[in-house]
Amino acid sequence: MSQVTVTEHLLLHQQKSPAATGVFTQLLYDLILSAKLISRSVNKAGLLDVLGETGETNVQGEKVQKLDEYANSVLIHRMERSGALCMMASEENADVIVVSDRFERGDYILIFDPLDGSSNIDVNVNVGTIFSIHKRESGKKGDPGLEDILQPGDRQVAAGYFLYGPSTMMVYTTGFGVHGFTLDPSVGEFLLSHPNMTIPERGKIYSVNEGNYPLWDDKTKSAINHFKSFDNWRSSPYSARYVGSLVADFHRTLLYGGIFAYPRNYKKTGQGEGKLRLLCEAAPLAFVAEQAGGKAIDGTRRIMEIVPEQLHERVPLFIGSRGDVDDVAGFLA
Ligand code: AHG
Ligand code: MN
Ligand code: MN
Repeated sequence: MSQVTVTEHLLLHQQKSPAATGVFTQLLYDLILSAKLISRSVNKAGLLDVLGETGETNVQGEKVQKLDEYANSVLIHRMERSGALCMMASEENADVIVVSDRFERGDYILIFDPLDGSSNIDVNVNVGTIFSIHKRESGKKGDPGLEDILQPGDRQVAAGYFLYGPSTMMVYTTGFGVHGFTLDPSVGEFLLSHPNMTIPERGKIYSVNEGNYPLWDDKTKSAINHFKSFDNWRSSPYSARYVGSLVADFHRTLLYGGIFAYPRNYKKTGQGEGKLRLLCEAAPLAFVAEQAGGKAIDGTRRIMEIVPEQLHERVPLFIGSRGDVDDVAGFLA
């Protein structure tokens, strides 16, 4: 494995990336430190008193796990002291988190899913942290507000994720390709292990919670059936894989190709919506997917172009190999 650390990699790319200023490097450094702390706790989860639920329900109506709360507080505590941010938003917080004027403020905005896949923690299956970084419109002064964060994915300056798996990995983009790093726990550094990652043009794995099949509309059913039929590009059914942690399912899709889908589910009332959150899940992974040569759509629209109306807005998501996502778009048009 190379000896290039993630901070060195960022500095090497500094001339290329207008985002990579000293302040931005500090932001990423603090984000990496937060992830190392979370990774340490995830690794020892069975030994510490961190398994199980807190008894609380979050803004999304989901049960909060103790590690969700721990990861969230590590990120908020560390990142508000980075000097780079004016505002944050977390999946676990109902409202935006404006950086207190007790701390130094910068122009960057950080959005995160502190622990993705938290229903998998107690069974020792991969979880992750997803992040998305925006910059406040230049020249804006005073306290930032919700309108500063409701930006389309196309305006992200960086995005990526940490995957707490057999190894802990970091995958990120600043708009100049996608690069993956693996944490060497003996030295405590993320080392470049996957430079210039690209998604295969086509894959042979589809990934979706098929228990929801009866909740999909007919076009979605046809799209997913297509991958299981002999009528696709392989003339052979795809394999199914579904971890239930978006970061893990996405990471596999990035490496092997194929498609991950979380379609709109229709309830008995006839109302339908996606589950995944635009700002802290879909948009950052869409940025990574596109930078790796893949695609991400909500069925008809590019995820990166959707302008959020609400902080915790949910979207359907189809993401992965270009050819496979195009197939879905054909069915849902
Ligand atoms: P989170 O743990 O951050 O709430 O996210 C859970 C998400 C995502 O990780 C995964 O892809 C999806 O929920 C799984 O949902 P189902 O259990 O409905 O398949
Ligand atoms: Mn999540
Ligand atoms: Mn989460």
